[in-house]
Amino acid sequence: MDENFQEERCTGMIKFTPPLYKQRYQFVKDLVGKYKPKKVADLGCADCTLLWMLKFYNCIEVLAGLDICASVMKEKMHRLYPLPADYLQPSERSLTVTLHHGSVAHEDPCMLGFDLVTCIELALDAAKRYGYSVEFTGVGNPPTGMEDVGFCTQIAVFVKKYPQTSEPAQSKKPTEAAYKTVFRAVYPSLKDEKYLQSAVVSEVMFTAHAIKRSLLDHLVSEQEDYNDDPTERKLQLQRSVNCFSEELETLAVEKSMEPLTNGSVVYIPLRKIFSFPKVNQLCGTFEKLRELITGKVTLSSDGSAVVLDTDHENEEN
Ligand SMILES: C[S@@+](CC[C@H](N)C(=O)[O-])C[C@H]1O[C@@H](n2cnc3c(N)ncnc32)[C@H](O)[C@@H]1O
Repeated sequence: MDENFQEERCTGMIKFTPPLYKQRYQFVKDLVGKYKPKKVADLGCADCTLLWMLKFYNCIEVLAGLDICASVMKEKMHRLYPLPADYLQPSERSLTVTLHHGSVAHEDPCMLGFDLVTCIELALDAAKRYGYSVEFTGVGNPPTGMEDVGFCTQIAVFVKKYPQTSEPAQSKKPTEAAYKTVFRAVYPSLKDEKYLQSAVVSEVMFTAHAIKRSLLDHLVSEQEDYNDDPTERKLQLQRSVNCFSEELETLAVEKSMEPLTNGSVVYIPLRKIFSFPKVNQLCGTFEKLRELITGKVTLSSDGSAVVLDTDHENEEN
């Protein structure tokens, strides 16, 4: 018996392992892994299961589904909305998911320019005209000796032959819309300045607080070597943080990458914060970091350091 399927004794039915629908989806996922397409359309997308699986692939920036039956598409289309986690940690890629109601028999400009078009369990012979090469294959191998029946699921893979810039001369592009858009979700992305700014501000504050805590812990542990009385330690910490005059501190912050204290205020040089990989990766340049946090984070008068208060730390001690 082929390991690809089992024949059930009583019914004579063939059961594929894994089930054929899973093999079909896996086939498409493998194609996505291979071609890394940015724009993928699923024709005859039904309840959007494949689209939902594909939205987790980081190479994909545009996902579109089309089905002639709007009600089946709407059944589970809520799965295509961004999740709370997508807002908490916006991705670096952009992603827009759109569902259209209509028939593949009609042309619509919204279906132009896709890198990969999937069409599972739906007979189709339209894509070749628009500059795609086609390869026929399938999943669900037939039993030995019955190879002439072919795959249980026949698959045609259409891959865009032409770069986006040079279109095939003979293609006549549709211009009139034939489909009705029934769903559209634009995912939060760091490519959107609004999400980038909020991610940078929260990363800068997180980093600045971590540096401040480490500085204060260091000052406290230095004092602990001399005195274990918590009240005395608190006073000594206050004395340590008061050790710079305003003028000295501004000069020192500019020159140094190290944080400084003055009274109940800690100055954390932006350069130091920028040296942290996550901040550096998010902003790319020091100028961009400044631009994104100006007006959102309290900075020293010359804009070279983030200013934080030590008061809460003193209370905790
Ligand atoms: C057998 S289901 C396959 C669903 C999905 N592709 C999958 O593999 O799970 C076929 C789907 O194609 C849709 N369909 C049939 N004819 C269509 C057409 N002319 N244009 C668009 N969708 C069509 C049906 O409504 C149905 O949802």
